[in-house]
Amino acid sequence: MIETDVLIVGSGPAGSAAAALLSSYGIDNMLVTKYRWLADTPRAHITNQRTMEVLRDLGLEDEAMLRAAPNALMGETVFCTSLAGEELGRLRSWGTAPMSFARHRMASPTETVDLPQTYLEPILFSAACARGTKARFSTEYLSLEQDEAGVTATVRDRISGETYPIRAKYLIGADGGRSKVAEDIGLPMEGKMGMGGSINICFKADLTPYVAHRPSVLYWVLQPGSSVGGIGMGLVRMVRPWDEWLIVWGYDINGEPPAVTDEFAQGVVRSLVGDEALAVEITSVSTWTVNHMHARSYAKARVFCAGDAVHRHPPSNGLGSNTSIQDSYNLAWKLAMVLKGQAGERLLETYDAERAPIGKQIVDRANKSIAEFGGIFEALGLLDTSDAERMIANMAIRKQASEDGQRRREALRKAVAAKVYEFDAHGVEMNHRYRSEAVVGAPEAPHFAGDPELFYQPCAEPGSRIPHAWLTRGAKRVSSLDLVGGGRFTLLTGTAGKGWIDAAKAVGRKLSLEIVPVTIGPGGDWGDTFGDWALQWDDCDGGALLVRPDQVIAWRGASSAQHPEAELAKALGSILAGY
Ligand code: FDA
Repeated sequence: MIETDVLIVGSGPAGSAAAALLSSYGIDNMLVTKYRWLADTPRAHITNQRTMEVLRDLGLEDEAMLRAAPNALMGETVFCTSLAGEELGRLRSWGTAPMSFARHRMASPTETVDLPQTYLEPILFSAACARGTKARFSTEYLSLEQDEAGVTATVRDRISGETYPIRAKYLIGADGGRSKVAEDIGLPMEGKMGMGGSINICFKADLTPYVAHRPSVLYWVLQPGSSVGGIGMGLVRMVRPWDEWLIVWGYDINGEPPAVTDEFAQGVVRSLVGDEALAVEITSVSTWTVNHMHARSYAKARVFCAGDAVHRHPPSNGLGSNTSIQDSYNLAWKLAMVLKGQAGERLLETYDAERAPIGKQIVDRANKSIAEFGGIFEALGLLDTSDAERMIANMAIRKQASEDGQRRREALRKAVAAKVYEFDAHGVEMNHRYRSEAVVGAPEAPHFAGDPELFYQPCAEPGSRIPHAWLTRGAKRVSSLDLVGGGRFTLLTGTAGKGWIDAAKAVGRKLSLEIVPVTIGPGGDWGDTFGDWALQWDDCDGGALLVRPDQVIAWRGASSAQHPEAELAKALGSILAGY
C-alpha cells in the first residue's frame, strides 16, 4: 500500500499550490492528476497581488515575474466593434489608472500581472516536486473511503489501466469544476451549473498594429451575436503580447455545444479582429460553461476540497485561480501544524469557516459582472438582438448631434465606467476578513470606509492580512509581509514591546512551536523609516500582533498587558485548538 500524509487530487492552481506549500512546510505529500501534463490551455491569467504575495512567500515571485506580462501591459480594457473597427470606450484596469496605481503600490510589495495558467502551473508544480512532493501523472482518482485514522483513495493508472489504493492521513480534492471528490463526500452545493455556453479559441496571429498603442489583456468586441451565451460579449484576450491570443465566444446553452471546425474558428477570429486577410494559426479549440455554484461547506472529516471544486463561476474579475491558490494557502499551514502535532484537529474546521464565505462572494461577484455588461448593451440599443441591421443602426445613434445621441453617449460612458467592478475591483481581491476559532478578537463585522469591492482597506485587526509597509535595516528594505509567513507564526511588536518578545520566546519553547519575534522601530530588528507601519496601528510601539503562517493576524496584544506570556499562551491555545 502506498502511504502518504496528504494526498492531493489535481495539479491545477489549487492542487499545485497545496503541494508546493506542504512540501515547503516539510509535510510528506503525494499528488495525482488525471492527464499526462499540466494545463494545456491558458485559462487563468490575471494574477492578483494577494496571489503574488503567496508566490513571494514561497520564494517564487521572481520566477512568476520573469514569465508574466507586466502590469503596464495590462491596463486599457477596450470595448469595440472589432479590433480594426470602431472603438466604443476604454477603461483603465488592474491598477493602472493613476489613483488605483497608487493604491496598489501602497497595498502590497507585489504587482498584479498577467500570468497564463500554462506558465503558472509549472512554476508551482516544479517547486512542489523539487521540495518533496511525489507526483503521478495520468493517474485518475476513482473513489475514497474514510475512517478514524485516515483516507483510502482508489486511483487508476491511465497508461497501464491498473487500479490501486493510496492511504493518506488527509486528502485534498483539488480536482476542478467537475470535482468527483466533492461529489463523493457529498459537499452541499448551492446554485446552478451551465448558465451559458462558451467557446475558447486559442490562436497565433500578430495583432501588434491593432493593440500595441492601447496595451491591454482584454479587448471586448460587440457585434451582432456577441451577447449569445458565454460571458456576455466576444472577447479577444492576450496570452502573450502581441502574437498569442485566446478568443472567448458564446453559444446557446440550450443546444448542443457546437462542433468547432478550424474554418469556423478562423471565421470568428477574423471577424472579431476585423481583418478578413489576417494570417491565423488556430492552436486549440474547446468549449466550457458558465456556472454559478458554490459549496456551503468545504470539508468532510479528513477530506478537504479547494479551488473550482468548491467555487464555480465565470472568469469575470479573474478570480478563479487566485482564489484557488489562496484556499490552499489557508489550508496548508493548518494541515502542517496538525500533522506535526502542534495543533488540535479542530483547527482544520476553521478552513471551512474562513474560506466558504469568500467562495460565495467571488461566485456572486463574477456572475454579477456578466450581468453588468447589460448597461453597455442598453446604452447602445442592443438589447433586442433579433435584427442585426437594426442593432448596427442603433449603435450609430450615439454619433448623432441629437438628444437621443447625447443620452446614449452619456449612458455608454457611465456603463463603461461601471465595469470598474470587474476590471479594477481591488477590494474584492484584497479585503478578505476571517472570523473563526483560528482568530481571536476579530471585530463582529468589518468596517470599511470606502466601497469594499472597489477599494482595498488596510487593517491591523485580527482576521485581516497584515498591512504592507516598507521597512529598512542598513541597505536592506523589506515589506512587513516579508517578515511573516514561511509556515511559521510571527510576533510583531515595537521598541517598547520587549515583554512581548520574551513572551514569544517562552511560549514558543513551551509549545515546541516556532514563533518568530520581530521588533519594528528604533533599536529594533527593522526600522519604520518612512513611518508607514506606525500609520497602520495605534499601539504598534508596545503592543503585539501575532501573525499566522498565512500572513493573517491571529490575535492582538495590548501595550498595557500585565502578563504578556499568559495572554499570548491563552490566545495561541485557542487558535491552535487546545495546544
Ligand atoms: P483546475 O480545473 O485548474 O484543475 C483541476 C485538476 O484536477 C486538473 O489537474 C485535472 O487534471 C485534475 N483532475 C480532475 N479530475 C480528476 C480526477 N478524477 N483524478 C485526478 N485528477 C483529476 N482565474 C483567475 O484567477 N484569473 C483569470 O484571469 C482567469 N481567467 C480564466 C479564463 C477562462 C477562459 C477560464 C475558462 C477560466 C479562467 N479562470 C481564471 C479560472 C481558472 O482557470 C480556474 O478557476 C482554475 O483553473 C481553478 O483551479 P483548480 O486547481 O481548482 O482546478
